[in-house]
Amino acid sequence: MSDRGLELAREKMTDAGVAPAAIETFTRFYRILESGESGLIREDDVEPLRDIPRHADLDIADADAAAALDRTAIIKLNGGLGTSMGMDKAKSLLPVRASGGEMLSFLDVIAGQVRAARAATGARLPLILMNSFRTREDSLSALARAGDLAVDGLPLDFLQNREPKLRADTLEPVEWPAAPDLEWCPPGHGDLYPALHASGVVKALLEAGFRYASVSNADNLGAAPDGRIAAWFAASGAPYAAEMSLKTPADVKGGQLVIRRSDGRIIQRETAQTHPDDLDIALDPERHRYFHTNNLWFDLEALDAELERTGGVLELPLIRNEKTVDPTDPDSPAVIQIESAMGAAVAVFEGAQVIEVGRERFLPVKTTNDLLLLRSDVYDLTEDYRLRATATPPLVKLSKTYKTIGDFDARFPAGAPSLRSATALTVEGDWTFGAGVTVEGDAALPDRAEPARVPDGARVTAEGVSG
Ligand code: UTP
Repeated sequence: MSDRGLELAREKMTDAGVAPAAIETFTRFYRILESGESGLIREDDVEPLRDIPRHADLDIADADAAAALDRTAIIKLNGGLGTSMGMDKAKSLLPVRASGGEMLSFLDVIAGQVRAARAATGARLPLILMNSFRTREDSLSALARAGDLAVDGLPLDFLQNREPKLRADTLEPVEWPAAPDLEWCPPGHGDLYPALHASGVVKALLEAGFRYASVSNADNLGAAPDGRIAAWFAASGAPYAAEMSLKTPADVKGGQLVIRRSDGRIIQRETAQTHPDDLDIALDPERHRYFHTNNLWFDLEALDAELERTGGVLELPLIRNEKTVDPTDPDSPAVIQIESAMGAAVAVFEGAQVIEVGRERFLPVKTTNDLLLLRSDVYDLTEDYRLRATATPPLVKLSKTYKTIGDFDARFPAGAPSLRSATALTVEGDWTFGAGVTVEGDAALPDRAEPARVPDGARVTAEGVSG
């Protein structure tokens, strides 16, 4: 492979006015990608996390929680494009819950959570989105419609960088004249650090008297503002903390945090960084009991010092993400997106901490399976806009017919069926659900080899459709 791909990509970024620091970050990752370096972390060199503090055990007075929350800003990662669900814009604008006859989007629920926490504690609690070139406009107009959220002098968002998608065969920037916008992608949520540095948001928060940031994915409605964690974090004096949750049998994949034996630091290890011989033990929930929720806490002074020291270019490991240039068309050319993960910065912060939180703080929507659950009666929306499970969530597995949001919505025209009495729902083939459908037990629908319908008011059980 020549350097031609890199040269072309750098030229393309320069012509598009991408910030020099972002071009340098991209260049570093491109060289790692080209060298095929994998950065494997062997099991023998790490220890699992054990006996970490638990959110449920924290003994914190309400006044202390409110005081810590008053010094906290909420940052939501909102730059991703939901390509796994066939989208190329903000997932957070999808309708997720009905409330009072109206459908609320993720952003509406997030705004509701922030307003409720402000009202309950008196905290100023700024809400700031990290947007990308394709999520900014829509998200800011949605927030404007939500009204009265801005906190004096602070922006409602900051913008992350963009980079060319690379052709998987040549590693040259892909050309897609039918929709040139699709030639670009945001570089993953590890871009938080350069984007924060370039925008000056950390300094603005410090000047306005804030000391902590609670950062989480906009597609995780479990990560509501939490004064008790804020107070624990403030008292810990740590520069950085990650919320971890106990694995269930469904959580086999995903990044984890481990302790590096050589220096005792906590580091992140993605599945891609695990040696094939270590995979079994790395994924063994008895040994590595926790997974990483991507809910993080930062001491803004420590973060500011790190951003100043590095110019925002933290040396994070590369994530090589394989996609198609048009996320809605699986037959379009294969591309590689150079990405990095925000949580990999844990290794950079000496004295980083972890805390165990309950499952209620981790409700991500990565697939339409997750979306069906959140739209169903398995969750209630409380007055303070939290999603509370009313039953153990069943394991939902929809066929690939339901993968993109358009195809999914077309098959649930009357909304989600009742899933409260189900332990599982496996749908094979192509079924459209009528109104008032109830799913019970270990339910399954077989592939009929042609589009089929679950009638209004029917029951779906292990035997298929009845009633
Ligand atoms: P994910 O990588 O899980 O989801 O991001 P995504 O990028 O939205 O969706 P896919 O992979 O294309 O299907 C987790 C969180 O990080 C944000 C997303 O908006 C989401 O809240 N994110 C991701 C960014 O803010 N910027 C990025 O470049 C990538």
